[in-house]
Amino acid sequence: MIFEKKYGIDLGSSSVKVYSAFRDKIYISRNIMAYRGRTIIAIGNEAYEMSEKTPADISVTSPMAFGTIADLELQEILLYKMMRGQDRFPRRNCTVFFAVPPDMSALEKRAYYQVANGHWIRHTRVYMVEAPIADALSLGLPFETTAGSMLVNIGDQTTRFSVFGSGRMIMSRMVPIGGTQINESIAQEIRRRYDLAIGIRTANRLKIAMGRLSDQSKDARRVVGMDAVSGLPREEVISSYVVNAGIMDCVNELASRMKTFLERIPPQISYQVAREGIYLTGGSSRIPYLDTYLASYTGFTFNLSSLYENSTAAGLEQLIHNKELKKYAQPISQRKL
Ligand SMILES: Nc1ncnc2c1ncn2[C@@H]1O[C@H](COP(=O)(O)OP(=O)(O)OP(=O)(O)O)[C@@H](O)[C@H]1O
Ligand SMILES: [Mg+2]
Repeated sequence: MIFEKKYGIDLGSSSVKVYSAFRDKIYISRNIMAYRGRTIIAIGNEAYEMSEKTPADISVTSPMAFGTIADLELQEILLYKMMRGQDRFPRRNCTVFFAVPPDMSALEKRAYYQVANGHWIRHTRVYMVEAPIADALSLGLPFETTAGSMLVNIGDQTTRFSVFGSGRMIMSRMVPIGGTQINESIAQEIRRRYDLAIGIRTANRLKIAMGRLSDQSKDARRVVGMDAVSGLPREEVISSYVVNAGIMDCVNELASRMKTFLERIPPQISYQVAREGIYLTGGSSRIPYLDTYLASYTGFTFNLSSLYENSTAAGLEQLIHNKELKKYAQPISQRKL
């Protein structure tokens, strides 16, 4: 089917992942845009580069906040521009499969519908797939047969714990901790130790360059920040030790939330989860040794996925190509909302 206009879309806080059935490929773009008044200046990576250093009349924002759509119109435009960039995107009469959080209100469902049926993208058939199910499909979780499996997706602003049993999802909880909070924690640590204020983007760079939650290899990076006392720019050499202290601070909080969640799982299911190991995915699970760190904190073993941030979109890809999995996609029409 060459002219199949089907898309699997995962709207994330940091990036949008679009699987195009036509190209058979997953595209990823930062979910951020820069605009002045009603004029869009930049989207995606270009807009990200502009953030934290724009004049007052230019705003740089992300249309998603904590895994939910915060700005409908911006999200639609961003999605439209992204799809236009890759495909001769038809604009209308296509089918999209959205990966959505399981515990959505009617209003949030309406937002997803609206993004695909607005001003730029129209007459779209919309299906919703619960994001943890999409993850489970791409990670190959035996969730249709298992007595208990658990999946953790650590993203940019959210982490989601989900438990499956007897072919369905039994529990799912979101905690507002992810890569952004880890970056903030790194910035806070640097401010506390050196009286130096650095931007979140700088913190993100330090995290990706030196983040490592095990016997630390010594490393250091030079950063420029603002002196918290004098307000003047200052240079400082930041060691990997400091960066990881910041990361650990945030990860400890996450691990403690995970422990509380694990304690609430019924024992016969939790027994099975312990035997199987917890499945771990999401962009932030790229931090080296995060899985062993969480294992030592919670006492459970972890199976780290090699798909990372792409796992949800990869699950949608399987769903689009496999008729038997269509039962996990719920069609949404305007009348039903
Ligand atoms: N090599 C890396 N080391 C550490 N963190 C990383 C690395 N690569 C990406 N990340 C982090 O992964 C996060 C993005 O993950 P992901 O794409 O799963 O989130 P999202 O789906 O956009 O957000 P959410 O699911 O919270 O709405 C970012 O915070 C980014 O900093
Ligand atoms: Mg995500």
